[in-house]
Amino acid sequence: MTKRKLKRFDENRTFSHYFERTHNELSSSPFEYKGSWSKDFFGNDNPIILEIGCGKGEYTVGLAKRFPDKNFIGLDIKGARIWRGAKTVQEESIKNVAFIRTQAGSIDLWFSENEVSEIWFTFPDPQPGARENKRLMSPRYLKIFTKILRVDGIFHLKTDSDLLYEYTLGMIKENRHRLIHQINNVYNGQISGALTEIQTHYEQIWLKEGRTIKYISFSLNPAIYEQG
Ligand SMILES: C[S@@+](CC[C@H](N)C(=O)[O-])C[C@H]1O[C@@H](n2cnc3c(N)ncnc32)[C@H](O)[C@@H]1O
Repeated sequence: MTKRKLKRFDENRTFSHYFERTHNELSSSPFEYKGSWSKDFFGNDNPIILEIGCGKGEYTVGLAKRFPDKNFIGLDIKGARIWRGAKTVQEESIKNVAFIRTQAGSIDLWFSENEVSEIWFTFPDPQPGARENKRLMSPRYLKIFTKILRVDGIFHLKTDSDLLYEYTLGMIKENRHRLIHQINNVYNGQISGALTEIQTHYEQIWLKEGRTIKYISFSLNPAIYEQG
């Protein structure tokens, strides 16, 4: 571990809007804001928007600035990446953002049922082939995320990956989820707003390589919730 990373880990722990807990800690003592993030942490009753695999938090922070009437939480397993977003939030005194360092699979230890209104995935690893079971946009993970997402909740996916784009569209069709938007090139000159104005670290890399950036939003087939 480099000194710079260690320094960032230490600084993260000084931010009041940054949280990390081990699985054991959360199993023995529930997270203090689970079920009451808006009321007890943000001090309002605004909806919660979660970004899973937020990296440096460009979307979490960028959306928070554009939508002050919503609360944004960025989640990633890598604390040194989260540091960048958490530091910006501190420097700019942004009030509607928090960050969590945890595994996406442990999400139900951090949020209660129906607590989250929207979930963003920005440039998740497509995890081809044998690693597909690690793919965040997959029935396995969606089942976990369903536990905390409202029935009318929305998933957003922004990706450079044709594989992930086609896979997600196929999954939506097969499971009768409700497709809201499907854009095969967000920089086609017809899209404005956050989708083209906020660019993540990885997005900038892929754009330099000339890749096409795609976007999908959808909500889940309510039958998924009835299955439990
Ligand atoms: C390709 S990066 C994209 C980061 C950022 N969204 C961007 O566009 O720059 C994927 C991110 O997902 C995170 N990640 C992957 N699997 C995860 C998991 N199971 N739980 C939490 N974070 C995960 C990684 O740590 C990494 O920061």
